[in-house]
Amino acid sequence: MKKIVIVATGGTIAGSGKAGKTANYHAGTIAIENIVESIPLINDVADLEAIQLFNFDSNEMNEERWIILANKINELTKRDDVDGVVVTHGTDTLDETAYFLNLTLHTYKPVVLTGAMRPASATSADGPLNLYQAVCLASSDEAIGHGVMAVFSSTIYSGRDIQKTNNFKTDAFDQKDFGCLGYMNDDKVMMFSRMFKKHTLLSVFSKMTLAKLPAVGIVYYYVGADARILDFMAQNHRGIVIIGSGRGNYNKAWLEKIESLSAKGIVFVRASRVQQGIVIEDEYFDPDNICVPANTLSGQKARVLLMLSLAYTNDIKEIKKIFNEY
Ligand code: SIN
Repeated sequence: MKKIVIVATGGTIAGSGKAGKTANYHAGTIAIENIVESIPLINDVADLEAIQLFNFDSNEMNEERWIILANKINELTKRDDVDGVVVTHGTDTLDETAYFLNLTLHTYKPVVLTGAMRPASATSADGPLNLYQAVCLASSDEAIGHGVMAVFSSTIYSGRDIQKTNNFKTDAFDQKDFGCLGYMNDDKVMMFSRMFKKHTLLSVFSKMTLAKLPAVGIVYYYVGADARILDFMAQNHRGIVIIGSGRGNYNKAWLEKIESLSAKGIVFVRASRVQQGIVIEDEYFDPDNICVPANTLSGQKARVLLMLSLAYTNDIKEIKKIFNEY
């Protein structure tokens, strides 16, 4: 039997509220031991160890806690007796944590995130099946070498591409244009695609000792958006991700501001507020090729990659290459 460690961080999967109800609950209140005890057959799948690393709403996640989490998982996966790790996490910011771990963990062993949209006290809580299937996936040989993954609603997602697309339904995630990596049929893993971007052992960030990450902020562009927000952000951020319209676009006032702040050393990434598609270099919106295009990353994932990139290099050409490869 494989040995799987569950690292619990909280979220709705550990939430409780009025018996039977799905809304108005407190996330991150139930201990992981109690959640595991409530799931029939889970101990038949793997030899389980559970660690309560945190117990909070995932909106309390931050860069320092990401580093603590990554260090803990790296420590666990180095153990010869550990075959895989499952992380329970709130769904609100799971996409960001999944990508951060995908870039920073130095292991080929499966690491699978999961959570729930309904608290443990709700009728038809979705957490137990999600956790059961996450443990099944982490125990499977088929999951080895795929980087960080997530399981929700019997669907397997890559840590790079997973995004929350619904804030109400239990089937709350997708992978942009890219479908999913596979399905779970109860305990059976059915993988049918692979994520080709660099991750885990091939990621330069997984070889770095992470301390404090450089400050990177996100600014949303909209009709009439005041370009002076960029001056404000530039006061205490080394990098700024612009969530632009269309393919990462903005008006002329924003372009002028980006050009002047970039000359002062601020690094800009152009991402898009459109959920699908790709942001690439653009001669009209970025004539001097100042900005790093976000490729297919969402704004919040582009921020994760820019923080790590700036911790690694100040060379814009190198950062552009990283954004194409990761
Ligand atoms: C959270 O992200 O911690 C709360 C919401 C959820 O888990 O669904």
